[in-house]
Amino acid sequence: MTYGVILAGGIGSRMGGDKPKQYLTVKGKPIIIYTIEKFLVVPEFEKVIVLCPKQWVEHTKNLIEKHIAPAKDRVAVIEGGSTRNETIMNAIKLIESEGNLNDDTIIVTHDSVRPFVTHRIIEENIKAAKEFGACDTVVPATDTIVEAMDNATISNIPDRSKMYQGQTPQSFKALKLKNMYESLSDEEKDILTDAAKIFVIKGEKVALVQGETFNMKITYPYDLRVAKSLLEDETDD
Ligand code: CTP
Repeated sequence: MTYGVILAGGIGSRMGGDKPKQYLTVKGKPIIIYTIEKFLVVPEFEKVIVLCPKQWVEHTKNLIEKHIAPAKDRVAVIEGGSTRNETIMNAIKLIESEGNLNDDTIIVTHDSVRPFVTHRIIEENIKAAKEFGACDTVVPATDTIVEAMDNATISNIPDRSKMYQGQTPQSFKALKLKNMYESLSDEEKDILTDAAKIFVIKGEKVALVQGETFNMKITYPYDLRVAKSLLEDETDD
């Protein structure tokens, strides 16, 4: 079975304000709803699991009832975790509790604050996760990437043609991800904020799926201004 997993467990500290950025409204609809809608039109998903901070679970359920009531039976809203990876683990625990976690279970994990994900990107994630066990959505790096190990002077300038910027979705065989995550020490869990990196450090292949430059993550107030104009264009169509 294949599940959509919308990661909304963060509080958006870099955005500031009194509510997490995924709940900010653009053209009458919260950002998280735009994102959930992109997942609900994908027929392969058995269910779309939305994970948010505990105190936002009821509010999220109400938003789904208000904006996408007909599809609400395909959506489960549960509490996220203290880190992004713990949030993903909560989704896997839900799948396991329903008896559906096995070698073929695929999860397509996606930031709730990337509402511009496309149908193509999601479909290619499902295909690549089935074939390779894990995949990451990326775009070629546009700026030259500069490494500074001391955060003050350049230690390396890698060949830009081999550099990519990571987006989401990131998709995985869920049981494999869970087993690898559980084998990590607490220190490793603290460092490994990116789920794809867990596969990489364990020597497992992670395939690349081509993203889109417009599949941006809303992180800072500036991003919100860009997202607003893009969403207004989208909804004007
Ligand atoms: N996320 C999550 N669970 C966490 C932390 C983050 O599901 N414990 C989600 C966020 O809700 C967001 C996505 O991961 O949709 C990408 O993370 P980021 O942009 O860093 O979001 P926040 O953690 O909310 O932002 P900040 O780092 O500014 O606090």
